Amino acid sequence: MWSNPAADYSRQLGREPINNGLFRAIVSSGGYAQMSMLRDPGVVEATVAWQLDTMKSLNIGRVAWPENFGESPLLPSETTVEVEGRRLSPDLLRFWSYVAALDVHLGQPPRRVLEIGSGYGGFARVMRLHHPGCRFVLLDLQPSLTVAGHFLAHAFPEALIVHATSLSDPSAKDADFVLVAAEHAGDITGESFDLAVNFWSLGEMTRAHVAGYFDLIQARNSVRSLFTVNHVFAPLDTTAHNLPALLDTGGWLSRFDRDWQISFFGIDPLLHDCPVIRHTHMGAAVMAQRQVADLEARRAASEIATQVHREDFVTLAAASPAGDLATSQTVDLHAALQRRGAVVIGPETAFDARRYGDTLQLWRDDSRRGADSAFFRLWNDVRINGSPLSRRLLCLWLASRWRAPIRGGEGPAMLDTVLTEQYEFGAGHDGRWRSDPLLTLPFHVSRNLEAASTLL
Ligand SMILES: C[S@@+](CC[C@H](N)C(=O)[O-])C[C@H]1O[C@@H](n2cnc3c(N)ncnc32)[C@H](O)[C@@H]1O
Repeated sequence: MWSNPAADYSRQLGREPINNGLFRAIVSSGGYAQMSMLRDPGVVEATVAWQLDTMKSLNIGRVAWPENFGESPLLPSETTVEVEGRRLSPDLLRFWSYVAALDVHLGQPPRRVLEIGSGYGGFARVMRLHHPGCRFVLLDLQPSLTVAGHFLAHAFPEALIVHATSLSDPSAKDADFVLVAAEHAGDITGESFDLAVNFWSLGEMTRAHVAGYFDLIQARNSVRSLFTVNHVFAPLDTTAHNLPALLDTGGWLSRFDRDWQISFFGIDPLLHDCPVIRHTHMGAAVMAQRQVADLEARRAASEIATQVHREDFVTLAAASPAGDLATSQTVDLHAALQRRGAVVIGPETAFDARRYGDTLQLWRDDSRRGADSAFFRLWNDVRINGSPLSRRLLCLWLASRWRAPIRGGEGPAMLDTVLTEQYEFGAGHDGRWRSDPLLTLPFHVSRNLEAASTLL
């Protein structure tokens, strides 16, 4: 999904060498700025005020700011606000929330960090301000690396910043920041990293790229900890001209193998649940430490999932008219969706959660968003034990989770909104569902999770 911005940035960078004005123009276009996209001063001020307040109530309020903490003067001034003599911005505080969460969960500062999809370098800057000994390998598309190289050189004039095609380049050995273009990611092998991070980027890549990066992290190199925050909930417009490409993105959550111990899980985590910012995708955060899953870990994952297996929605589903939880998809909906209109919808194509929802007339929204959520417990059981029951229940739970927006829908005649794993549980389209996502959602999630189980 980054081919368009990357091509734009490439064109701009091809016209003149990177400088502060060009840096600002590129960052101002909004592609990198998760929370500073709207540069209305009122929005910026209200967001920062909410973030500062929220940080006090989270663990992250305990971690003290570095003395020189503040937004870089390179960032457009309209994305910042001055608070008690410091220039702050929503994205700066977002990066700080990641850094502070890492402090809480890692125990000690990482010495070598791999960041995939590092954007303009905002996180790397904040992390190094906090842990000056921390060295980075940044892996991104070339235009983004050019932008990040400029930004980091301005932030750390003393630092050694190297653009390399391989980490075995002699110049890369002692560098503080090694910038490697994505097309050379396959050459990163046999390396050790204390930490790998990825923010708001894996969720936008093709499934093949996502698979490649997970192979890099889980198989080809030694990565002790992993922290990522990415899209899980977003609407998808099936009338989009690039629908096939959109359907081929995401899938990151299904890629975690069983040998991670998850120390933090959250939907709309940390500072992301900001009420001021509505115009953004919903994300999930996973912080994990590499550790071979022993029998005890497998048993524990199964046990916490079993509690969900006993929840009332499972009993209700089993008792519903179409109550076969094991119902399999007989139609290739993925292919059918691309031929819009060709899908025959009926109880035989999917579990008909709507029917018993209508009968019951109520769904309590599941407000649990952390490791105690049904989402986490079922996902974790699928990840560690490959449990088919948890996989089916996860699909079902997701469908029920989004019951409320579906209620206003026009019925199942048109599949105008579909969900892939990235776009799996979207908030609707034009403010409402115009289709029956109950059919497509279980299919897509199931497909991805099934693919993941074959990796076990
Ligand atoms: C929305 S920006 C997020 C930037 C930053 N991580 C943040 O949280 O602000 C997405 C980033 O992913 C990068 N990206 C897109 N496709 C990529 C790929 N195949 N490999 C590596 N990076 C990629 C883009 O160049 C961009 O820097």
